[in-house]
Amino acid sequence: MLLKKDLKEKRELVNIEVDRFLPRKDEYPKQIHKAIRHTLFAGGKRMRPYLLINTYLLFQDDIKPSLLIAGAIEMLHSYTLIHDDLPEIDNDEYRRGKKSCHVVFGSDIALLAGDALLVYAFEAIASTNIDVKLKLRFIKELSEEAGHKGLIAGQMIDILSEGKKVDKETLEYIHNNKTAKMIVLPIRFGCYLAKASEEDQKRLEKFGQKLGLVFQIVDDILDIEGDQETLGKTIGKDKKAKKATFPSVYGLEESKKMAEKLIEEAKELLKPYGKKAELLSMLCDFVLTRKF
Ligand code: IPE
Ligand code: IPE
Ligand code: MG
Ligand code: MG
Ligand code: MG
Repeated sequence: MLLKKDLKEKRELVNIEVDRFLPRKDEYPKQIHKAIRHTLFAGGKRMRPYLLINTYLLFQDDIKPSLLIAGAIEMLHSYTLIHDDLPEIDNDEYRRGKKSCHVVFGSDIALLAGDALLVYAFEAIASTNIDVKLKLRFIKELSEEAGHKGLIAGQMIDILSEGKKVDKETLEYIHNNKTAKMIVLPIRFGCYLAKASEEDQKRLEKFGQKLGLVFQIVDDILDIEGDQETLGKTIGKDKKAKKATFPSVYGLEESKKMAEKLIEEAKELLKPYGKKAELLSMLCDFVLTRKF
């Protein structure tokens, strides 16, 4: 209950910030702004912003400076979803409980909406009034982790592995790059912004690494066991596309056990922060047991 309320409050703060930053939906050329907003404001857990904000709040009290950076990460994340759903990639018709961007607006506009969100993320970071050196660091690291050293590489191997028998290293490479890196990054940004010590940063990145891996393991499990309505996206699509997933390599039960163990380890890493990390610890349980 406490987590649900806090997630909702912070989600709204991030949404306000992002909404203020983006052009109005009827601004010329309005099709693109409508398409962007269609997916961005369709819902979504806003988990990456939540991680950034809550990591930052372990060390600082004023939430304000973290909001637009958190929003930028969400814009970038939403771009990955729009492109991931395209017929050329996962060919997925539902996203966040609505028809996918390309289904409503066409692939041409969806492609551009994704591109626009990707560059908006950088524009948003550039337009904050945080220290210039730190801003450049955010821009550099976001480019790396979302690019060829991270998400793009993960998505690339995800596509190339369709229909193939992959080994455990390749599977971990995919999950680590396509998903976990974008979970670790907001945590690291929260640390930078709050000027956390190197020791704290290292510990929290380790926490994020475990949480990020679980996040994708559970995503794979939900594709098998989830309820489409609750999940807000199509189920059964990984098997159909013969994707490399944890259940396909380890089996369902083993995948669940691995996720449980990783979550226990992640929570252990939060212990030094005591009550301050209560919400992050609750988030760990949510990531493990989530239905959407
Ligand atoms: C979906 O991410 C894509 C993955 C990395 C598994 P989320 O499950 O965070 O999607 P939203 O933002 O809540 O829609
Ligand atoms: C997607 O993994 C990860 C990114 C969007 C980068 P999936 O393809 O499993 O995500 P869903 O299930 O479509 O949300
Ligand atoms: Mg995919
Ligand atoms: Mg997909
Ligand atoms: Mg999936």
